[in-house]
This record gives sequence, structure tokens and C-alpha cells, in this order.
Amino acid sequence: RRRTRVHHLQQWKETGHRWAMLTSYDTMTAQVFDEAGIPVLLVGDSAANTVFGMSSTLPVTLDHLLPLTRAVVAGAPNALVVADLPFGSYEASDEQAVQSAVRLMKEGGAHAVKLEGGARTASRVRAVVDAGIPVMGHIGFTPQSEHALGGYRVQGRGEAAAGVLQDARAVAEAGAFAVVLEMVPADVARQVTESLAVPTVGIGAGNGCDAQVLVWQDFAGLSDRTATFVKKFADLRTALGDAARAYAAEVEDASFPGPEHSF
Ligand code: KIV
Ligand code: NA
Repeated sequence: RRRTRVHHLQQWKETGHRWAMLTSYDTMTAQVFDEAGIPVLLVGDSAANTVFGMSSTLPVTLDHLLPLTRAVVAGAPNALVVADLPFGSYEASDEQAVQSAVRLMKEGGAHAVKLEGGARTASRVRAVVDAGIPVMGHIGFTPQSEHALGGYRVQGRGEAAAGVLQDARAVAEAGAFAVVLEMVPADVARQVTESLAVPTVGIGAGNGCDAQVLVWQDFAGLSDRTATFVKKFADLRTALGDAARAYAAEVEDASFPGPEHSF
């Protein structure tokens, strides 16, 4: 395999080849997902929840995400590694957005960045793209603006569908190479997908998108609670818990370590 590039995603849109994206925050999961052929890995600001134990994505910073980004890049020889611009790293100005994106590329080794917001952040997308950095958009429900949106709610129901379509177009026209659609009705996401020249990546957005993304601890069944749009493709929480109990029991009854584990 060769490194996935943004132009491959564009080709796949044109040929109708669907693809899967997963988050990753460390070298070993990056290795496993890269070997499994996942073409795009996201160092999401969901690390706030999955890595750092925070209750929202708002507190996470570039300084949190940079070492995670380096770790994922180190484990992924083939995947396109996208890193999230965290809340507070691009709100102030286009210049701030460029500076933050440059850090993710230069210090983190990312291949692209993602930032949240539609028409309201289109000038940020344009500024970062003009700096030579590929940008993935993210519209619909945007967790960094949870408080403005009034909590975790589906976006684009009924008359609000037109707003989602406008946001998608604004971000695509600003130069984004792909757009994440989060918690959008399936019919709206399908319509957005049909009207955009660049790929859409759905999460809680139905089956009409060009690609899908999930947080890896959710798809692998490690998270204790997950949204209804998540499918668990494994049950790591049970597997790891069982392994920990078996290990503790073998230590307590002195059956581990055995002679084969001893010098
Ligand atoms: O941070 C994240 O994990 C994300 C995806 C869910 C799209 O932004
Ligand atoms: Na994110």
C-alpha cells in the first residue's frame, strides 16, 4: 500500500467507493487500524473524553493533542492522519487558525486538520487551505459548540435542513477536501452528499454518506456508554475486564508466573 492522499478520497467519491475512518490516539491502535486498511485516521479532540477523562471536548488543548498526533503518525505508514483543531485554537481569527494548524502539521506530523463549523468558520477553512494545509470540515452537531446548540441534538431536522446544506456548501467552497456530518437526519445527509463534489463522512448521519467515522473505543465496545448511532464491532470492555480478572486470580493463587515465564 501507499499513503492515502486527499486526491484518493476525491477519486473514491467519483467511483462510488465507500471508506471507513476511525479515531486513534496512540501508536498501537494506529498500527492495528492501518494494517487493517483503514485509509484515514482521526486524532479527534474526542481524546478529551476517551484519553483524558474530561466530560466535554472544550478543555482539550493543542498541547494535549500534539503528542497524540505524533504517536498516531508513528504507527500509521499508510493512513492519511487528520488532527482536530481543538476549541480555542482557531476561534479568534484566521491567523490563529493558520498558526494552530501549522503546529499540528509541523510539531504533530499530521497530514491534514479538521475544524468545526459551517458558514461561520468558512473563512478559517479558506485561510488554512491557503497555507497549503488540507482541511476537513465538520458540520451538523459540532461538540465544541454544544452550549450554543443547546446540548447533544440532531441538527437539520425540518426547515433547518437548508442550513445544513448551506453550511456544507460554504465549507466545500472554502476549499475543504471532505466534510464530516454529525447527527444529521439520513435524508438530509444523503442530499448533502449528492450536492457536494467532495466526500461526506457521516457519524449518526445515516447510510447515504461517502464515508463513515466512529470513535474507536465506541466501535470496539470499550466505552461504557455510547450513542444510539454507534455499532459495537467488538466487546473489548468485556474482554479486557475478563483478562484483568483472570490475571489477578492467577497472581493470587500463585499459578502466574509459571516456570515458562521465569528465568
Ligand atoms: O473528535 C472526534 O472524534 C470527531 C469525530 C467523531 C468526527 O470529531
Ligand atoms: Na472532534
